[in-house]
Amino acid sequence: IPLAGVIGWPIAHSRSPALHGHWLKRYGISGHYVPVPVMPEHLAEVLRALPRMGFVGANVTIPHKEAVLTLADVVTDRAALIGAANTLIFRPDGKIHADNTDGYGFIANIRQHAPGWIPDLSPAAVIGAGGAARAVVASLLESGVPELRITNRTRIRAEQIRSEFGAKVVVYDWAEAGNMLEGAMTVVNATSMGMVGKPPLRVPLDALAPGTLVTDLVYTPLMTPFLQEAEARGCDVVDGLGMLLHQAAPGFERWFGQRPEVDDDLRRAVL
Ligand code: ATR
Repeated sequence: IPLAGVIGWPIAHSRSPALHGHWLKRYGISGHYVPVPVMPEHLAEVLRALPRMGFVGANVTIPHKEAVLTLADVVTDRAALIGAANTLIFRPDGKIHADNTDGYGFIANIRQHAPGWIPDLSPAAVIGAGGAARAVVASLLESGVPELRITNRTRIRAEQIRSEFGAKVVVYDWAEAGNMLEGAMTVVNATSMGMVGKPPLRVPLDALAPGTLVTDLVYTPLMTPFLQEAEARGCDVVDGLGMLLHQAAPGFERWFGQRPEVDDDLRRAVL
């Protein structure tokens, strides 16, 4: 019976067990997916032990997403570029393979909810430059955006992304976040602002054109104040829950041999 799980510290809040558990049940697969609490100082030891315990793979969450890159035997190019991994495959030869599917999940979510989205005609604007933003930037560039504008409260993190991801990246000052939206037809909140218990993201949205694709990585609540305001301006809004659901699909398929469906049943199971 194949085993998989999610490694993090703390891990109790993770929605991944509900997500994968739903798929296992739906497809009648006799596998298990469990939360695995791992303290940072135990990460290397646990990673070596999991395959010997029958695990075929694992998801990785905070605070281990960066550290697993140094412990894996094989790191995909995109995980290396993003600087973090969220999906591990324990291969039969004993090697640990690390990948990052966050960018895939981000794009798959948009394509599912906004099938008419065309990324390559106008600039994209990303607010935030943390770990999650890096996956978004990588996937938007791969999708062919002609220009990628980015702003962050701590400007140096945006500058760092520019220096790593190249000349299509244009850094805007945090005070210019509103102006950055002018002419951008894809806009992303990749900060944690707007999450329950945190203040809303405060960016002037006057420059947002109706029809702009606006999405948020925050999914608690599903409709953040930022998305509500964008919707009121006639934008095409996509909430962030689908990114979580879609990023899980490639791992599930590799571990359990079944390409899983992301649909409303799954959304309900995870919320
Ligand atoms: P994640 O992995 O979720 O991206 P992170 O790397 O801690 O987490 O990044 C959080 C993002 O939210 C960053 O862009 C952060 O801005 P800083 O780089 O300046 O910290 C942004 N963020 C968090 N709280 C914020 C706040 N009060 N105002 C503006 N930006 C904030």
